[in-house]
Amino acid sequence: MHTQVGIIGAGPAGLLLSHLLHLQGIDSIILESRSREEIEGTIRAGVLEQGTVDLLNATGVGARMMKEGHAHHGIELQFNGRRHRIDMHELTGGKKITVYAQHEVIKDLVAARLEAGAKIYFNVKDVSLHQIETSSPLIRFQLENGTDYEELNCDFIAGCDGFHGPSRQAIPANLRVEKQKIYPFGWLGILAKTPQVNPELIYSNHERGFALISTRSPEIQRHYIQVDPKDDITNWSDDRIWSELHARLDMDGWSILDGPIIQKNIVSMRSFVCETMHYGNLFLAGDAAHIVPPTGAKGLNLAAADVQVLARGLSEYYHSGEEDTLTRYSEICLRRIWKAQRFSYWMTTMLHRNFEHSSFEHNIQLAELDYVTSSQAAATSLAENYVGLPMEIQTNYSIRI
Ligand code: FAD
Ligand code: DHB
Repeated sequence: MHTQVGIIGAGPAGLLLSHLLHLQGIDSIILESRSREEIEGTIRAGVLEQGTVDLLNATGVGARMMKEGHAHHGIELQFNGRRHRIDMHELTGGKKITVYAQHEVIKDLVAARLEAGAKIYFNVKDVSLHQIETSSPLIRFQLENGTDYEELNCDFIAGCDGFHGPSRQAIPANLRVEKQKIYPFGWLGILAKTPQVNPELIYSNHERGFALISTRSPEIQRHYIQVDPKDDITNWSDDRIWSELHARLDMDGWSILDGPIIQKNIVSMRSFVCETMHYGNLFLAGDAAHIVPPTGAKGLNLAAADVQVLARGLSEYYHSGEEDTLTRYSEICLRRIWKAQRFSYWMTTMLHRNFEHSSFEHNIQLAELDYVTSSQAAATSLAENYVGLPMEIQTNYSIRI
């Protein structure tokens, strides 16, 4: 098998990259270890930045998002028993975020790719990368029901296989520059069949721990509570989850609404950057290269920003032989990644309760919240980061569509 760009992983990064390359007339094949049903059913992110929404719309895959997603002009921060609204729309000259589930974005991208005749191999096994430092890299793998190994020869490999995939590990360990921070926090996330309780997201700092109210539709809600990252979901009955949400969110005259919980799980939190995003003819994009704690809602959006730069670099290479953007891929992406890391770290440390902190550190945290909700300058900084900093590279996708 041969293709121009071999893509490992059909998450937001891999699928969007394949779509953007197709619009530039560049061929790709996607190898994915899970089934289509699994990738279209995994519950994860929900917040899309303005730039991500604009990119999906500009490239013809935004129609359902515009119909079924929900635009939010602000968020609320709750602490010391009071709520404070950050009017992102007002503070950023009209920008907003859209709440639209990651697995819906995945469904839209898979449908668009398959409709355009793309090759996506689901359920592949034992994927490995070879000859990545040469001009003829190859990916070895087994098909779903195969026992023989297949070889996908390509000009470039895009490692879009998430944090645990094989792509990053293919870069020699002594040449990889990696930086990380692990937090003593986990998020227990639920999907519940209950009516929407608030028109906007609520991020709450409470003495029992952080809580977040989000939504998916008027009938389905998405909520999170801070838990010990080593805790097990079997310790959390539905009653215990609701009672914790009530304790951390209810205020005089306002209460969260209970109902059947249809999905629950616990994720741990880390900040991680592999600064070596480019090695030979391998390029890493999305969670394969970096992880942010979810408090800033940045992971999927960063993946979209990376592949926009990579698609631009590959397009310049194939259409004019220009290699400047590809050569500077890591450098261009890392400027935006480190700012998103900073914001995600700041939101996480401001909003979670660190039970090892002294009362001095706790008062500093409350002062930070007081400042951000009472100073227009501080609120503007939060708002411009939350709606998304500008993409490092803008491409006019009408060129080759
Ligand atoms: P992934 O989505 O991890 O996709 C990688 C793909 O590669 C997967 O399909 C995987 O099966 C496949 N793969 C792995 N190994 C192999 C292999 N060996 N061979 C072939 N394929 C392989 N981000 C936001 O922007 N906004 C939010 O509101 C937000 N909220 C979040 C809430 C939670 C609870 C969590 C956990 C994350 C959240 N995120 C959010 C982060 C976001 O979900 C991720 O950053 C995003 O999924 C990254 O996309 P990706 O394509 O890089 O990686
Ligand atoms: C959601 C996820 C986030 O990480 C966040 O900060 C806000 C909302 C969500 O899943 O809706």
